[in-house]
Amino acid sequence: MEPILVKHSEYVAFIEDSLMKDEAKLFDEWLSSIKMNHERKGEFKEQMEDSRHIMFSQIIDTISGNISEPAIREMARKITSERMNKINIGDVLYNINQGRRVITNSIMRMDVPVAILQIVINDINRQFDIFSHELVSTYYQLANKVIDEKTSFINDNHKDKLALLGQISSSFVHEFRNPLTAVMGFNKILKKEYPNMKYLDIMDYELNQLNFRITQFLHTSKAEFNEDLVVDISIKELIEEIKQLSYASIIDTNVKVEIDVADNLMIKASRNGLKQVILNVFVNSIDALKNVPSERIIKVKAALKNNQLLISLSNNGPMIEKEYLDSIFEPFFTTKELGTGIGLYVCRKIIESYDGYLVCTSVPEWTTFCIHLPDSIIITDK
Ligand SMILES: Nc1ncnc2c1ncn2[C@@H]1O[C@H](COP(=O)(O)OP(=O)(O)OP(=O)(O)O)[C@@H](O)[C@H]1O
Ligand SMILES: [Mg+2]
Repeated sequence: MEPILVKHSEYVAFIEDSLMKDEAKLFDEWLSSIKMNHERKGEFKEQMEDSRHIMFSQIIDTISGNISEPAIREMARKITSERMNKINIGDVLYNINQGRRVITNSIMRMDVPVAILQIVINDINRQFDIFSHELVSTYYQLANKVIDEKTSFINDNHKDKLALLGQISSSFVHEFRNPLTAVMGFNKILKKEYPNMKYLDIMDYELNQLNFRITQFLHTSKAEFNEDLVVDISIKELIEEIKQLSYASIIDTNVKVEIDVADNLMIKASRNGLKQVILNVFVNSIDALKNVPSERIIKVKAALKNNQLLISLSNNGPMIEKEYLDSIFEPFFTTKELGTGIGLYVCRKIIESYDGYLVCTSVPEWTTFCIHLPDSIIITDK
């Protein structure tokens, strides 16, 4: 064994010397093979020229076993942290492997016995693998940290926005609601006293619209919503009522409404709350159909399934892109010129207050909003 060991160390010294002699040539060979955008290559070359010698000494130390695994890992962590924002991890790994290729090819061309070559190249490969492993792990740790920070910033921001929305809605709603109720009341009296007076119906309709909007804002503050009276509701009756309420828009947009709801479906809930949800989704569906050139259809279905009551509204309007499916429930998300973007946000909040959930699915043919209501508020015999 003894002579081989002596030989091994001699060959290693020979390999190190040869590599050091070829330093400039090997460096150029590596630089010409790396991946990097053109403008940065010049700048990178300059930087690397300065640290070229250090880099080489580290590779040489690797070959002679003078550098420990923790030291390699530390080096990889340092490089990644310093360059995190500038690097493309795929390119970096590729470039490291080009370095490994240039060095090992050069060693393989040397006049060294295969058995020694194998040991040296195995060592180099192992050290490069440790380096790459640590580099990628650090990169992803740092990248995840950045994502976590951004996510928590977005969440905090979102919470602030919601808190503000709650404050605005509950304060301004009270300011508006009382005078509005008074005007609506006087309008009713006027209608009674002067049944033939023009414009009173229009005023009544517009005041109801305003009241509906205000109620919608009111529901963004949960405390107010919980004060609503809980009553027995027939789903079929409620849906027929909503269809009647939307009669003008249905005719205007020329929509065919198909209702498939059993007579006996009953739940215990706030009538205003549930009406607002279904009406909102219904109005959105009519809006979505406005520019559809073919027949415009809304299908309303309600049925019991797995101890839940499912109420779905589907329309054959344009598909909602996947990336928007969650955003449409965010407050103030709207694609409409005159939209406020709180309709679906309020709907989801109302349904969640019953421990139910509201989801949207959209495929090219149909967009469906499905309300899932839990067992606890269903009073129909199952
Ligand atoms: N059935 C639907 N088909 C396609 N897109 C829809 C549908 N329903 C909602 N959307 C999209 O979701 C967005 C948000 O809806 P949401 O009801 O919250 O607000 P809005 O209708 O824009 O305004 P408003 O506050 O007046 O209801 C809409 O602007 C629209 O882009
Ligand atoms: Mg809406």
